[in-house]
Parts: sequence; structure tokens; C-alpha cells
Amino acid sequence: MNYSNFYNLIGLNQEINRLQRQVSLGWEKEFRTLKWLGLNDGMNILDLGAGPGFFSEHLLENLPNCKVTLLEPDADLMNFAKDNLSKYEGRVKFKEESVYNNTLQEEKYDFVVSRFVFQHLEDPIAASKEIYRVLKYGGIVSVIDSDRGIWGISEPDILKNERNILGRLEKKTRWNREVGRKLLKILKLGGFNGLDFEAVAIHSDIVGVNSIAGEMNITNEDIKNLSRINPKLAQLLKQSKDMISSKNTIVILINLIAKGVKG
Ligand SMILES: C[S@@+](CC[C@H](N)C(=O)[O-])C[C@H]1O[C@@H](n2cnc3c(N)ncnc32)[C@H](O)[C@@H]1O
Repeated sequence: MNYSNFYNLIGLNQEINRLQRQVSLGWEKEFRTLKWLGLNDGMNILDLGAGPGFFSEHLLENLPNCKVTLLEPDADLMNFAKDNLSKYEGRVKFKEESVYNNTLQEEKYDFVVSRFVFQHLEDPIAASKEIYRVLKYGGIVSVIDSDRGIWGISEPDILKNERNILGRLEKKTRWNREVGRKLLKILKLGGFNGLDFEAVAIHSDIVGVNSIAGEMNITNEDIKNLSRINPKLAQLLKQSKDMISSKNTIVILINLIAKGVKG
């Protein structure tokens, strides 16, 4: 299952925008948590499943003496990252590979970060073992992901009656929305010790609903047209649009961060 099967549902550009928004939302709190968990300037870092590279970009910008390798199997996302990060030449490397068939050198990295990747992996334990292999002794892994049981809060809860839409999507894409709760077991089975677990909260009263949901460039005319083809989806889009424009809306997102140490 390629990641493009997942993002083709919305299109490459929309996905790049979505990932950029998601990185910006979490960056400040995730960065301070990663530093708390052992991330330091000067480290050799692997961004596993780096996508279009926005998280790597923040790392390169904020840790001026670090080096970052981006591992990403999707050619389109990788090409975007290469263009976007060209000014960091000398500090950045690109590997267009899957974690399962990678050519990364053993015991090479001080820190591995993997954000919102494990929910898409068919064999997360194999990935955990690979991370263990490429980390130096004493190196740290930090896996960031979410879980449907603790993903957050939305008021109004527009998805309350639409859980089947997410369920169908999960089946179609083999998307694992319960991975957050399992991260520490996955790291343990990969060989890691020194386990730790943190959470980062993002609140719409601070960042704005638009920053979380994105601008919805959908007109009432679009919704009217869609309602002839798919009335349920049209209703959901209308609710989302109303939700984004209402000042009473509350959305809280929880990003989970699991840490492991080699050794
Ligand atoms: C939701 S995106 C997250 C991208 C990036 N980490 C971020 O935070 O913006 C998930 C990424 O995991 C990558 N991925 C999926 N399967 C992978 C695998 N087997 N090995 C490495 N990366 C993988 C996808 O190609 C995609 O870029």
C-alpha cells in the first residue's frame, strides 16, 4: 500500500498544504518536548517518513549545527523536499526509500524522529527494529503520532454521526488510528529501553480553527451541486464550513510522543 493511495483522495498539493499546516501547528511544543527528551544541536538526525520535509526544515533552521537525513519513499513528496531544502546543501541528505528496504548505515544517527508515519505502517515493529539498527549506542528515537481514543475534542462534534466515513477510509487505506496507544510496546519490541511518553496539546482558541482545519474554499454552490451526487458528504462539508466560521467552535488536538533509547 503506497502513501499516494491515501493522499490521492485529496490530491498532492492539498496534502502538501495539509502537512505544512500540521507541522506548523505542532512545531513549537513538539520541539521543546523533543529537546526535553534529549534532542540537541550538533546531532546527526534521521527524519523517517519525512514527507515534503517541513519538519526537517524546522530542525535545520533551529539547530544550525545539526545534519538531517530525510527518508521518504514517495517520489513526489521527496522531490518537493529536495527543492524546498536546497539551501541547506551540505547539512541535508535524501534517501528515497522505505524503512523496510533502506540502505542506511548501521549506528549512524544520534536521534531519529518519525512523525505521523507509524499510523501508515503495515509492520511498525520491523520499522522500530530498523530504527534501532541505524541509531548509535545511546541514541534516541522519538515517534510522534495520534490515537483515535485520545485524538482530541471537537465542539460541535460534526463527526459524531459520521464515524462510518472514517471507518471506511481506515479499511480502504489500512490506516491505523489506534497506533498511539501501542507506540511504547512497538519501541520495546524493537529493542529500546529508557521509554518515556509525552503529549502535546493544540487548542483552537490559541491557534485559530482555520489553522487546524485549513481554509475551506468550498462555495455554497459547490455544496448544492454535491448534494445531488452525495447528500451525506455535502451535509458534512456544510457542517465543516459552518464550524470553521463559527466563533463558538472549539477544537483540541493531542499529539502523542513516544521516546526510546538504544542501550
Ligand atoms: C502523514 S505523512 C507525515 C510526513 C512528515 N513526517 C510530517 O510530519 O509532515 C506520512 C509519511 O510517511 C511516509 N511513509 C509511509 N510508509 C513508509 C515507509 N514504509 N517507510 C518510510 N516512510 C513511509 C509517507 O510516504 C508519508 O510521507
